Amino acid sequence: MTQDELKQAVAEAAIEHILPMLQADTIVGVGTGSTANLFIDELAKHKHRFDGTVASSEASAQRLKGHGIPVYSLNAVNEVRVYIDGADESDHHLNLIKGGGAALTREKIVAACSDLFVCIADESKLVDVLGAFPLPIEVIPMARGHVARELVKLGGTPVYRANVITDNGNQILDVHNLDILDPVALEQSINNIVGVVTNGLFAARPADVLLLGTKDGIKTLE
Ligand code: A5P
Repeated sequence: MTQDELKQAVAEAAIEHILPMLQADTIVGVGTGSTANLFIDELAKHKHRFDGTVASSEASAQRLKGHGIPVYSLNAVNEVRVYIDGADESDHHLNLIKGGGAALTREKIVAACSDLFVCIADESKLVDVLGAFPLPIEVIPMARGHVARELVKLGGTPVYRANVITDNGNQILDVHNLDILDPVALEQSINNIVGVVTNGLFAARPADVLLLGTKDGIKTLE
């Protein structure tokens, strides 16, 4: 199977996983990226079973609305029953690197507010140690140089993602050459740098379930 076929299979598996949670008042959190897009297209087939969604990016909100699925402000809902999103990397403890699509801040907010976080990914995303994928950091634009120098002190090699502005009006640094042996500690350390909005480590709040599309079928890690 191709990587796209694995993504499609895992998007369909996500629907099977959340179907029992879809009720008239259910709000579904929806992530960003190519895997999340396939999930949105599958979710549209069940749009009359639940209330609506909150989206982690403008792009996902547009895709949801295009299917006629209601998209609410996070501030307007009381509970997000389940959040479905992709990842750039996951370790076996379901600590994640996210933000390849620059949506990490809203993704982290929606994940933090959700009762259950279901990550969906093809098998290429599962790694023993996080860090081969450059870690995205959203920064306040005027602080970019300062944050970059502090990231070098942590052992990383930050690279400015030129021509990308996040949905929040900020910029992205991608940090190469990190061996992330303690994801919780590194997430905290990077958060402590003044000018950092969010970093792409999801370790303080990892995924609860990882649905992994493999050539041998869907594997569930939790
Ligand atoms: C978006 O900012 C990211 O966190 C995505 O969830 C991540 O990059 C996975 O994207 P794909 O599903 O396109 O691989």
